[in-house]
Amino acid sequence: MAMLTAEQVSFCYQGKHETVYAVKEFDYDFEPGFFYAIVGKSGSGKTTLLSLLAGLELPTQGQVRFQGTATTQMDGDRYRRDHAAVIYQNFNLFPQLTALENAMYPLRLQKVSKQEAAQRAEEALTQVGLSPAQLRRYPSHLSGGEQQRVAIARTVATRCEIILADEPTGSLDEENTRGITDLLLRLTHEENRCVIVVTHDLSIAARADAVLELRDGRLQPHQESFKE
Ligand SMILES: Nc1ncnc2c1ncn2[C@@H]1O[C@H](COP(=O)(O)OP(=O)(O)O)[C@@H](O)[C@H]1O
Ligand SMILES: [Mg+2]
Repeated sequence: MAMLTAEQVSFCYQGKHETVYAVKEFDYDFEPGFFYAIVGKSGSGKTTLLSLLAGLELPTQGQVRFQGTATTQMDGDRYRRDHAAVIYQNFNLFPQLTALENAMYPLRLQKVSKQEAAQRAEEALTQVGLSPAQLRRYPSHLSGGEQQRVAIARTVATRCEIILADEPTGSLDEENTRGITDLLLRLTHEENRCVIVVTHDLSIAARADAVLELRDGRLQPHQESFKE
């Protein structure tokens, strides 16, 4: 069984004066051990699709299923806490917590002991290239790129089966982008996670196991899977 399945998923934003059909009849099986890049022009529905896969939005039509269970039937907070970690575009770090405390936070929600949470958070923050001194800093004392790496480390440390990310390297230079992509690919292939990344960066898309292109809310048919 696929890890995450979208069955003919459509989503529309219902405004006062207009209805925007942001995702149209999206049908796809996401497998563990695959790194997916979602590409497409601005406004093509990428962020909306990611929100649907994260259970932050529920389909207007169709279903998103995690291991067979529809997101409409589950507690979204619990799903994101235990199974589908999200890296938000604006990072969503807690300003009053240090980098280390930010990365520990979801683990504490998962009821991981304080000691183990600190150890796993530190390991993940080191993997994304932060120094011991930076671990003790508050987000306001970190650069945009460093904050982005804290946000990435926070999801890595959770051991969730699925990682969903909207432009996870948007604030990073080329070298850090390569490093983060290396890390996400390693998690995908060594830990059999399912990593789904919205990106504009062709250097990331080129390294993905599969590239999904959205155009005007629709998955383009020429999809290729590069992995055997
Ligand atoms: N909250 C919203 N209300 C109304 N329309 C929205 C909202 N968010 C996004 N949209 C529209 O839905 C479409 C898809 O948006 P989005 O998923 O953000 O695309 P992308 O991430 O590819 O830029 C766009 O036409 C956008 O204007
Ligand atoms: Mg977007």
